[in-house]
Amino acid sequence: MCGIIAYLGKKSAQPTLIEGLKRLEYRGYDSAGVGLLSGGKIKVKKCSGRIIALEEILDAPNSDETIGIGHTRWATHGAPNDINAHPHLDYTGKIAVVHNGIIENYETLKIWLKNEGATFASETDTEVISNLIGYFYDRSEEKQKRDGQNKFEWAVQQALGEVSGTYGLAIVCSDFPDILIGAKKGSPLILGVGDNEYILASDASAIVEHTKQAIYLSDSEMVTISSKGFRTKTIDNVSVTKELQEIEFSLEQIELDGFEHHMLKEIFEQPKALGTCMGGRIDVKNKQIKLGGIANHLRELTRTKRLILTACGTAFHASLVGEFLFEQLARIPTETEYASEFRYRSPIIEDGTVVIAISQSGETADTLAAVEEAKERGATVLGIVNVVGSSIARATDSGIYLHAGPEIGVASTKAFTAQVAVLTMLAIELGRRKNLNSSDAGACIKELSQIPEKISRILKQSDNIKKIAAANIDRDNWLFLGRGFNYPVALEGALKLKEISYIHAEGLPAAEMKHGPIALISDGMPAVFIATAGPQYDKIIGNIEEVRARGGKIIVVATEGDENIKKHADHLIAIPDAPELLQPMLTVIPLQLLAYHAAVLRGHDVDKPRNLAKSVTVE
Ligand code: G6P
Repeated sequence: MCGIIAYLGKKSAQPTLIEGLKRLEYRGYDSAGVGLLSGGKIKVKKCSGRIIALEEILDAPNSDETIGIGHTRWATHGAPNDINAHPHLDYTGKIAVVHNGIIENYETLKIWLKNEGATFASETDTEVISNLIGYFYDRSEEKQKRDGQNKFEWAVQQALGEVSGTYGLAIVCSDFPDILIGAKKGSPLILGVGDNEYILASDASAIVEHTKQAIYLSDSEMVTISSKGFRTKTIDNVSVTKELQEIEFSLEQIELDGFEHHMLKEIFEQPKALGTCMGGRIDVKNKQIKLGGIANHLRELTRTKRLILTACGTAFHASLVGEFLFEQLARIPTETEYASEFRYRSPIIEDGTVVIAISQSGETADTLAAVEEAKERGATVLGIVNVVGSSIARATDSGIYLHAGPEIGVASTKAFTAQVAVLTMLAIELGRRKNLNSSDAGACIKELSQIPEKISRILKQSDNIKKIAAANIDRDNWLFLGRGFNYPVALEGALKLKEISYIHAEGLPAAEMKHGPIALISDGMPAVFIATAGPQYDKIIGNIEEVRARGGKIIVVATEGDENIKKHADHLIAIPDAPELLQPMLTVIPLQLLAYHAAVLRGHDVDKPRNLAKSVTVE
């Protein structure tokens, strides 16, 4: 997590840093800071709180300060206070560092550096990096005399050779007012190459306003930038040539466009996002699915004995839907694993096992670690990822991009429906190659093509859903219950409410309720049931009555035209009909809106919920 940005160019650096930090704020927002270089000095301004708090303590932009680094933090080591905020200076005051990631051996290094005379001001792991660079910088004269390598660059390489863990770094040195260094391992780092200016950032959203030309650094690579150009190397000092790439999304895609929050915008974008995700991939007329990204692996996937889907958070819930889809449509035994657990439980990967990692950001550390573990154990590993060129996209053998457009709201919405859409397409295609007859596959593809339009119809009920949220807003405990394909949706509904409304919620398979959670039901406790048309409809009506009998307030998501359900519900949300296996892309929409409206009614910052970050790059 954390967002880093740096600027080197002809303009005053500060406005670009602040604008960029605001775009990166979704990555962490408990403290922020900038370091600006001019007149052989580094001026650091930092404080706890959000970017707007930082703006209040900044001086007016200075046209002499044309190099700078900035940071927005999600605390890991050390409380989110002013001192622990980045940038961190070294003990000589010459080196300043902003860092995204975790230095795992920081305690050992800290003891060693203290013995060598370094002093520390903060509790962070990052200060070990600035001090290590300072330490080597102090000892760099001889090296420079011998082979003429820039001693700042050399000191950075030596320091990075000592640390283990992950980093995206931007570093400046007061003795080199024309040099900016970036380095990457395990955390993303992109260099935007503009007209006489360079922007180094964790994410293209902070770059796209200035240039669409970028290079994506790979792990253990660094870039040394000056006004004359830039050069890329490994941290072992071997030159690497990087291709300039075009940043795919536009500025408009990451702006609010009249919506009050990114989350609401992204909820409403789902028909379009799914249209883009499925466009060119489903051919209703010829009853075909084309998934170019994994074309070379389709034979292997068709023959696979076992699929393992691995992910975190919302992507984990999408994976659970995927498990049901692969088993039902393609009859492939499938397991869904939390990425964080997968890595540490010595997973069994037999010949013929294919692992699929699912991630919106493509940067989630747990998921990336699961990918590496699966690769090490010999599995073919595929990715279903939204962010093009992200770490998981590059670490996997091949994959399918969501093409859902940038997702900024911390609570994931459109990525979920796009992940389910991709999993559905893949399951249909594998089914078609195995056991699914052409007319069943064709019917499924046709129904799938109608999902975006059906979502648009559900979105029109936003005001009705807001009233339901308002009627129950004083309740601090909610249940979300679903069966079959809608059980993962119940989990996702509860997660959404927790994330942004800070209301305690539990998602459960509806039938499990009677094995314990039913004891929680008290008078007026909201219970959200997904009771759409499907094979388990009668059973879920039974579950609804069990909750009603104990005083629960029943909120039901049901199929349009279901008159019977009315007598069982206190609040009703009707959605268009669809085959059960495609329903998750519809039933999740009211639950996203319910969580959104509840959070707004409770006065929370929907796009930046407390303690969370969009992209969790720590394990
Ligand atoms: C964080 C976010 C969640 C997200 C999860 C997985 O916890 O707050 O919204 O679902 O990470 O993220 P990914 O980018 O891998 O899908």
